[in-house]
Formats: sequence, C-alpha cells, structure tokens
Amino acid sequence: MRNISLFNTDHHKFILLNESEPGEEDGIRSNQYLVSHDEHGVLLDPGGFGVMPRVLTELLRHTGPESIKAIMLSHQDPDIVGGIATWLEMTQAPVYVSQIWLRFLPHYGLSSMERFIGVPDEGMRCDLAPGFSLDLIPAHFLHSEGQINVYDPVSRILFTGDIGAAMMPPGVEDAYVDDFEAHLPYIEGFHRRYMASNRAARLWVDAVSELDIQMIAPQHGPVYRGGAVQAFLDWFRHLECGVDLMVSAGRFLRKSQP
Ligand SMILES: [Fe+2]
Ligand SMILES: [Fe+2]
Repeated sequence: MRNISLFNTDHHKFILLNESEPGEEDGIRSNQYLVSHDEHGVLLDPGGFGVMPRVLTELLRHTGPESIKAIMLSHQDPDIVGGIATWLEMTQAPVYVSQIWLRFLPHYGLSSMERFIGVPDEGMRCDLAPGFSLDLIPAHFLHSEGQINVYDPVSRILFTGDIGAAMMPPGVEDAYVDDFEAHLPYIEGFHRRYMASNRAARLWVDAVSELDIQMIAPQHGPVYRGGAVQAFLDWFRHLECGVDLMVSAGRFLRKSQP
C-alpha cells in the first residue's frame, strides 16, 4: 500500500508514503508518512533500514530530501529509528525525539547527536515555515516511556505512533478503518499487552480530546476516519492493559472485550 493521500490541497499534504510489506523487512509492517506545506516537508517515523529505499522512492514523487525540514520519531524502536543514519546523510533536517531517548540512540551507529532535539515531557510546538507548524503531543507509556504524537492543525490528522496500531492479516490491504467493531480483533491483543496502563490511556484520551481530529494515523495498519476516530478513543479510554492485567511476575489476565 503506497502513496495514499490522506489530505491534499494546493499548499498542504499529508501522505502515507509507504506501508512496508513483510518482504521488505522481516519484522512487522509499518507506515511512513510525509507532511508537506509548499516546498517544505516533514517525515514521521521514517522506518527501519530495510524500507529506506522504498520510502525514498515514494518521497521523490512529492519532494526531494533537501526539502525535508524535520524528522519526527514517535519513540525509540528499531522499526522507526533503524534507517535514521541514512536519512541524516541525505537531508539537513533536525530530528525530534523524546529527551529520554537521546542517550540510547547513539547505539544505532550514529556518529553524532548534533542534529537531535530532545522533546520535553510536556511536548512542544515546531514552527517549520510560515503557515506550517506541527504540535508534538505527549503520549508517554503508550507504549514507550517517552512517546510523542504529532498533530497537524491544517489537515487535523493526529499521528499516534503505536497507539491505534493494527496487526493486519497477510493480504488485507485496507487503507482506512471505517467499521471499528470489525477492526477490533486486529488491535486488541497488541494494546492490552503493550500499552502500560488504563491510567496512561485515559490521560492521553482526555488530552487529545481537546483537539479537532479528522483522522488518527498510526505507525502500523490502516488510518482511522469518520466515526472510527471517536469509537477508537472511547474504546481506549476504558481499556484495561499492561500492568492492570498483571497477576504475577509472569502471568497476565486474558480479558475478553467488555
Ligand atoms: Fe513501538
Ligand atoms: Fe511500532
């Protein structure tokens, strides 16, 4: 699934560049996004080393690497950061990631951290060009201890990293979630195990509910739109997950859907 326009006007675009396929990396399929405004672009979670050539190919349909003004990393996982050394060579862009991950990222083989900007726990606004700003929204413990979302106030799309992520069966290529109930089997197990707790989920839902959200764009699986946006937020607000389900050091409750 490639080059899906989630929002597209003369000046502003939000593009799902690429959903990696199992053959491109041995790991999980993942989404890489471009937000662009006039000649300025921003990459969201550019992906692991294996998908980099495909992401570049898709990027070149829209703009060149020299126009990338920032790279946002939702968290520290290898399916997000694994290709960053090459993106640092190809662009001049600063890279935004939670401040708590700055000391760990050099282990991805980076020779310098000069272009990395540590995002404070409370988040920040990034002014990228006249009329082009993105908000970095805290989403800590969902699942990473230092997790950030990216909200684009022009398209009103919220990029959520692993929140809302789906593990789709092979061969299912839906770009969007329209029927949340039908989608639930693809997200429930992941969220129950990987998301830290209901408290973290609830505080995040309360915070993002202040935003006008047209779509939720996760790092894995299809994009939520229409009624699926609110349906996902309502479900996640009440989800018992992570430490809520621990009954002993090595055992978790297997809860069925309330
Ligand atoms: Fe992750
Ligand atoms: Fe992920």
